[in-house]
Amino acid sequence: MHWTARQHTGPGKYEVYERLNREENHMSINPGESWAVNDEDRSTVTDGTEALRMVDMILGFTLSQAIYVAAKLDIATALAEKQRSVEELAEYAQAQPDFLRRIMRTLASHGVFTQYDADNFGLTPLGSTLIASEEGSVRDAAIMFMETQYKPFSKLVETVQTGKSAAQLYYGRPYFAQIALQPEQLLGFTKTMAATSSQMVLPLLDHYQLPEGRVVADIGGADGTLLAHFLTQNKDRQGVMFDLPHVVGSSSKVFAAANLTSRVEIVAGDFFQSVPTGVDIYIVKQILHDWTDDECRQILHNIAKAAAPGARVLIIEMVVPDGDIPHPSKTIDLVMMGMLTGKERSREEFRSLLSEAGMMLDQVVETPGYSVLETTVLAAV
Ligand SMILES: C[S@@+](CC[C@H](N)C(=O)[O-])C[C@H]1O[C@@H](n2cnc3c(N)ncnc32)[C@H](O)[C@@H]1O
Repeated sequence: MHWTARQHTGPGKYEVYERLNREENHMSINPGESWAVNDEDRSTVTDGTEALRMVDMILGFTLSQAIYVAAKLDIATALAEKQRSVEELAEYAQAQPDFLRRIMRTLASHGVFTQYDADNFGLTPLGSTLIASEEGSVRDAAIMFMETQYKPFSKLVETVQTGKSAAQLYYGRPYFAQIALQPEQLLGFTKTMAATSSQMVLPLLDHYQLPEGRVVADIGGADGTLLAHFLTQNKDRQGVMFDLPHVVGSSSKVFAAANLTSRVEIVAGDFFQSVPTGVDIYIVKQILHDWTDDECRQILHNIAKAAAPGARVLIIEMVVPDGDIPHPSKTIDLVMMGMLTGKERSREEFRSLLSEAGMMLDQVVETPGYSVLETTVLAAV
């Protein structure tokens, strides 16, 4: 089923959704449209199909877990070369064939695999994102989210009631402190960030030209993927890679592989204490959304303190659009709420945080997912 929303027939009124196509079993709205309906019209758009759709959404956890099973058992890698029978896959994965068949059938119905017949499955472009060795594979993400975030998310009601993160409630400590205790989980998290960078951010930034400035620092740069990308594109720049002491070391491999070792200084530190000086461009990617407004003010204040007036600060984040327009930032916002103390922000929220830190938002370079908020440090603080 397909509904559209149309704004609007009179002052303050929305026209009721129209059912366009009963055969299609999904709903969507276009950017700029709204889900809103009049109270008096609501009953006219509700029938059994809404309940079915709602149950489908409620059971979303089964899909997450099925993808996790496929990722953990590395099924996509087994299918990378050719289609295989359930028996072959079960032997490869040390799994029960009948159970694995049901996982495969369900995932095939979501386009992750292709089902040729009852016993044979192949890979789709969507499923190939789970191949272990593929650059930018999201297999680590499937494993990391399910192994470190799925169970804590059961505390989300308490989070909404108390304001404490679900990770804190579940683990008894903040999320980053928890994963720091488990080297495998920490590695999984770092690889997930690298994969989302290379899959979702780098292609979008391919046409993005860094502002002028010789020294580029990535603050909280994780494994260095983004800095390596910018330094490879801009041969005249030097890099500073900055992250927590137990994280920053992993970046040296990335810089070595890209032949960048001599152009990068690796600095361990805590951005709540201070950040490196002598930098022309500070990149702050997917950092601010991890933290509260007060914590962001502290990070931005430390950058402004270290920077010379005129230095540029590039905030790379999703920007939440106004209203009920579907946007990935709204799902990620719930991850921030559940796992950390942060949130996704609107353009105005960014503008006011930045101006409080003595930075001016010059422009927002938008892409469908992430945006680059280009900022100038106005004065030393
Ligand atoms: C969400 S990840 C973003 C990583 C990277 N910027 C990216 O977009 O792929 C957050 C990063 O901030 C780092 N981080 C967290 N707390 C930090 C602190 N107090 N000082 C420096 N880095 C920190 C983490 O180690 C992690 O690499």
